[in-house]
Amino acid sequence: MWEQLWLDLNVATMASEGPPLGVDEGSADGIPEAGPLGIIRDAAIAVDNGRIAWVGRRSDLPGAPETLARQTRRMSGMWVTPGLIDCHTHLVFGGDRAREFALRLAGASYEEIARAGGGIASTVAATRAADEDTLFQGAMKRVGSLAAEGVTTVEIKSGYGLDLATERRMLAVASRIGAPTLVDVRRTFLGAHAVPPEYRDRADAYIDLVVEEMLPAIASERLADAVDAFGESIAFSPSQVERVFEQATACGLPVKLHADQLSDQGGAALAARFNALSADHLEYTTEAGAEAMAAAGTVAVLLPGAFYTLRESQCPPIAAFRRHGVPMAVATDCNPGSSPIESLLTTMNMACTLFRMTTEEVLTGVTRHAAAALGLHDRGVVAPGMRADLAFWSVADPAELCYRIGGRVSAGRLLAGRALWSRDG
Ligand code: NIG
Ligand code: FE
Repeated sequence: MWEQLWLDLNVATMASEGPPLGVDEGSADGIPEAGPLGIIRDAAIAVDNGRIAWVGRRSDLPGAPETLARQTRRMSGMWVTPGLIDCHTHLVFGGDRAREFALRLAGASYEEIARAGGGIASTVAATRAADEDTLFQGAMKRVGSLAAEGVTTVEIKSGYGLDLATERRMLAVASRIGAPTLVDVRRTFLGAHAVPPEYRDRADAYIDLVVEEMLPAIASERLADAVDAFGESIAFSPSQVERVFEQATACGLPVKLHADQLSDQGGAALAARFNALSADHLEYTTEAGAEAMAAAGTVAVLLPGAFYTLRESQCPPIAAFRRHGVPMAVATDCNPGSSPIESLLTTMNMACTLFRMTTEEVLTGVTRHAAAALGLHDRGVVAPGMRADLAFWSVADPAELCYRIGGRVSAGRLLAGRALWSRDG
């Protein structure tokens, strides 16, 4: 007997690519619904042991619901998606950058502010000065906002410490956030985010520190699930990034890269050469970079919040990603400087409006492809054997999740089968 059986719902399984689920897609009037969302109308989902035990049309259930599960819930036609996944954030930090926002409005560029010692360096100073509880309280609030919108997995990067003690503190805070918010947190070590002030004009010496001391310590203490770097003229060169990636690989950690955000650094191809899980931002990535990512299976993580905030005008090469079959994910990049946004749903709207992605691409981009960007194969799709991470929505069509700006929360979430309901749930 199953633990839970959810009835009277419509499911966007995200599972139409790959092996069929053994269910026919079909709309209420019998016209097949094509498309990548793997929609099942009038569906049922069974949950057992934190996993999805069965999903399909209600009429295909192998018996009367009450005989199949200990607990049955009727959801009055709600839509269900996999729990949303925000696969790129920097949401543990001290201070804020409101003054820098004012400077940018007055004409200063992100790079100019960074070169003058502001930008990431100013958040580093505030984060070093903050104790663990202060960092924890700030991060809890931001994860709470994401969770209210149906997010069940969040990736959090370090990178505002740039010394071992503060990087450890950030990752320790990230480790504590999951339990009280019912969100699964994945942690990424981003020691190579910027050159810290005490290493000014000595970037190679800082990379020595990252490679020789920080990375081995973080890996042996199991504080991170992946390693990231910022490849850019205001951060680290391709050869410096390579050194970090070589050491990450030696330590058994997968890599990701902030690539080609402000200029073409060949970052996408570099990431692909190391079989990176993802390359992120990618506004200045070339066709050849997209091709290399496709060959390596590296996910393109698109971050329209940073594009919007920095008033960037060059879009990532979406058409090239489509042509070469590069999986595209979408994430908030939640951080105090380039993307002070705590809403994945608003970010999804931005991906449609600013990048001209389709609603299907964006919905896949915050579920299946976001899971792939984190190297997770147990979520992002509603299918038997997957984690029972689900988001319930009071909408008439899943495209509404992209279409509205503000005001929408999920009616509830399941995290590995544990339920949490919001006010209208
Ligand atoms: O993803 N590009 C580099 N890192 C962050 C920005 C961090 C910051 O400005 O504080 C990003 O945009
Ligand atoms: Fe980022």
